[in-house]
Amino acid sequence: MDLKGKKIGIAMTGSFCTFEKTFLALQKLAEAGADLHPILSHASQQITSRFGTPEEYYKRLQSITGREPICRIEAAEPIGPTGYLDLLVILPCTGNTAAKLANGITDTPVLMAAKAHLRNNKPLVIFLSTNDGLGMNMKNVGLLINTKLIYFVPFGQDNWEKKPNSLVAHIHLLQPTLEMALEHKQYQPLLLSYPEV
Ligand SMILES: Cc1cc2nc3c(=O)[nH]c(=O)nc-3n(C[C@H](O)[C@H](O)[C@H](O)COP(=O)(O)O)c2cc1C
Repeated sequence: MDLKGKKIGIAMTGSFCTFEKTFLALQKLAEAGADLHPILSHASQQITSRFGTPEEYYKRLQSITGREPICRIEAAEPIGPTGYLDLLVILPCTGNTAAKLANGITDTPVLMAAKAHLRNNKPLVIFLSTNDGLGMNMKNVGLLINTKLIYFVPFGQDNWEKKPNSLVAHIHLLQPTLEMALEHKQYQPLLLSYPEV
């Protein structure tokens, strides 16, 4: 289904090394006519690292989407009663957020948005990016894959030599995965290798 005019929640969590490619992908979604509604986890609003500062992330997200990002749990809650999103994507999704989501925990704006959105029986897409995807978080990824309304951007081991448990989704498959999720279908294949490292 075409993304033009679709209201898509963009929920960013603290996989900071993924932010640059996320912003580039968001620019493309905006150019495709998607109506983007940004949401930031507390970590994304607070942590400064070698990848950038929260102020830089906020401004860039605001500039691409044309909206003030949702930064508080109470600002994300109306997504439930008003049902204004067609689709929500957690992009990128940390191991932390995946673990909490799989266990019904709702203590960040991103998790509140996910809970509120799912109550409306609408699709939620996960763009996984975590060093422990095949480790401590594998059980949570398994739970989420088996949860109705949840779809994954195809992912693989991004660096099996240096980070054998790391799983990262493929950014070039974001748009087709969103298009299929709008029709409540999972893009396949779900598991996709990275080129040899
Ligand atoms: C520089 C830096 C990079 C990080 N990269 C990742 C990452 O790629 N994946 C991940 O799962 N966690 C990563 N983390 C850890 C998360 O930011 C941390 O677990 C945080 O609590 C996530 O909160 P959130 O899921 O609510 O955003 C990183 C942390 C730092 C400081």
